[in-house]
Amino acid sequence: MKFDLLTLFPGMFSGPFSESIVKNAVDKGLIEISLHNIRDYANDRHRVTDDYPYGGGAGMVMKVEPLTACIESVRTERPASKVVLTTPRGRPFTQALAGELANEDGLIIICGRYEGIDERVSEMFVDLEVSIGDFVLTGGEPAAIVLVDAVSRLIPGVLGSKESAEEDSFRNGLLEYPQYTRPPEFRGQMVPPVLLSGNHREIERWRRRESLRRTLMVRPELLDAVELTEEDEKFVRMLRDGGGTDD
Ligand code: ADE
Repeated sequence: MKFDLLTLFPGMFSGPFSESIVKNAVDKGLIEISLHNIRDYANDRHRVTDDYPYGGGAGMVMKVEPLTACIESVRTERPASKVVLTTPRGRPFTQALAGELANEDGLIIICGRYEGIDERVSEMFVDLEVSIGDFVLTGGEPAAIVLVDAVSRLIPGVLGSKESAEEDSFRNGLLEYPQYTRPPEFRGQMVPPVLLSGNHREIERWRRRESLRRTLMVRPELLDAVELTEEDEKFVRMLRDGGGTDD
């Protein structure tokens, strides 16, 4: 999977991509990340990349010419890549969308800045606009880091057996159950005994219930999209009715 990041601030990526799993994936050749400085494609004397918005208003707009030159140059090298723009007005980024993007040959990610980019860039080149949440960042760079991270870990071989993508939150549409490791007791706080029992059926049951409990508390709307078993339904009904335990 090839990621091409088009940005005015390539320095913002040096930390996040030079540590841990993403770095290992690059080192193993499973993913490739290239940074392209949009300013290098501004060919006027002052290398101007933004300008005042037509119609007035606050802030600056990224200019169409340098972005076009940058996108066209990168696209020549990667004709099969999808062009993505990070923007708060985009389609919400979810685990499902990360899964879709992980099937692409490559992603050319344009990091928007300031009040936005000239709309003609979107019309001419952008296949997909993506938002990482209902809040406004100073620019699209942190969003691009999030995209690269979430998509990379779905590429086969990127996660080792120690970091499985199988069990995490959202894979089954629910939030993850709580995890514990040694020691069994810390400052009087005990690990739930069922996890030490060695009874795998009971452990599975406990984990499912904790996932349901957590999802109901924090993200109840997720439950509407999940297929619940009869036992799940019973447990959720019991929680909704104010019960804490039934065993
Ligand atoms: N740029 C600014 N805010 C953003 C957001 N929430 N998601 C994606 N790109 C952004």
